[in-house]
Amino acid sequence: MNVYDSMKMQDLLSPFGYATTAEMEEADVVILNTCHIREKAAEKMYSELGRIRQLKDDRKKKNSDQMTIVVAGCVAQAEGEEIFARSPYVDIVVGPQSYHTLPELIARIVRQEKHLIELDFAFEEKFDKLPQYSSPQGASSYISVQEGCDKFCTFCVVPYTRGAEFSRPLEQVYREALHTVSNGSKEIILCGQNVNAYHGKSLEEKDCNLADLLKYIAKIPSLERLRYITSHPIDMNEELIALHGSEPKLMPFLHLPVQSGSNNILKAMNRRHDRDYYLQIIAKLRNARADIVFSSDFIVGFPGETDKDFADTLDLIKKVKFGQCYSFKYSPRPGTPAAVKKQVPEAVKDERLRILQKELQLQQLEFNQSCINQVMPVLFEKNGKLADQILGKTPYMQSVHVLSKNRSLLGQIVNVRITNASLNSLEGEIMPQSLLKYA
Ligand code: 5AD
Ligand code: SF4
Repeated sequence: MNVYDSMKMQDLLSPFGYATTAEMEEADVVILNTCHIREKAAEKMYSELGRIRQLKDDRKKKNSDQMTIVVAGCVAQAEGEEIFARSPYVDIVVGPQSYHTLPELIARIVRQEKHLIELDFAFEEKFDKLPQYSSPQGASSYISVQEGCDKFCTFCVVPYTRGAEFSRPLEQVYREALHTVSNGSKEIILCGQNVNAYHGKSLEEKDCNLADLLKYIAKIPSLERLRYITSHPIDMNEELIALHGSEPKLMPFLHLPVQSGSNNILKAMNRRHDRDYYLQIIAKLRNARADIVFSSDFIVGFPGETDKDFADTLDLIKKVKFGQCYSFKYSPRPGTPAAVKKQVPEAVKDERLRILQKELQLQQLEFNQSCINQVMPVLFEKNGKLADQILGKTPYMQSVHVLSKNRSLLGQIVNVRITNASLNSLEGEIMPQSLLKYA
């Protein structure tokens, strides 16, 4: 979501003559887009700001145009005025639902106004004011369809920093998707903090869910791949599950965070379901599409987590067999209910994370190795690090390196035979038949 927001900020400012630069010291405006999901985010931000301040001072000494410093994103939303108190050289503080006001705020700073702050939750206004047509994102593009969250998991700051749930109207998303595809994207990733809770309106003011939206967008002829991220198990309705069996453009890979495999902890986290419910959803999805692979998020060391609770999480992981996962030590977030509970000692969290990640890495490697000798459709996105190497993604989001001088393959889906697999990527060779098209 932050990648999408940062891109939108660029699109928003380009009509005013701003372009991105790789050198921060050249920038007239520096925007720090921040994330607040886990600890140390604010501290990291303040130390980064110290570095940017140096550049701002250097410019002043050289009598160049002033450098405007903007703090955007969820740390901006959470810290607010505190940012000006600790870092008075910051000019603008803008939250994730109000960054559409950036052109105006920057213009006011250029006119010598000081310390501007905008933290409203103006979803509707934001999407109306953002440029409808983004600049090309490449072979695969994100589109935000839903923002904010009403779930209030007891560890999570999102409902506070991103605000209540809001879904964009179906046609608005469709138009953005059409434009993205006409710009050459073969894949669209619909994103939202709670994307499968999507409930936008159609032009006829009918309620539409995520399955309706996916079906609608899948009709775009030259779109070949569709994904959505991130989902909550409780919002995986029957229609959405069935769509995985009937819509071939929907990729057989789903990120479905469970956080814990223990019923006690799931309850304490306010996740609204138990472990059996999660396992049933997984079984139903596999029933709908046999080759589907899952990824998930896990938190270890949530307040009250016992050895038995942790063992239940490991057990769930062994039952599901994931393709790839993210895992974190519980990090107390100010203002959330779990932060004031008795905490698990850091050393216990460290040890549990180590054990959990060992198992998850084993599963990931096993899955990657199971792909050796398979022929997989790979969407090539960019050049690799080595000469004559191009990099693409399988339907399961695995990165694949291929040796090829043929740059016309970038942006295309090509059949690749997987020859080698490691923990984080695959190697392969292009099937000669699929090259005929690009000779
Ligand atoms: N501590 C640790 N991990 C967290 N996440 C969210 N909040 C916290 C927290 N307080 C993780 C969850 C979520 C992912 C985006 O970040 O696993 O799914
Ligand atoms: Fe946070 Fe996701 Fe829970 Fe919402 S559903 S509160 S975004 S973890």
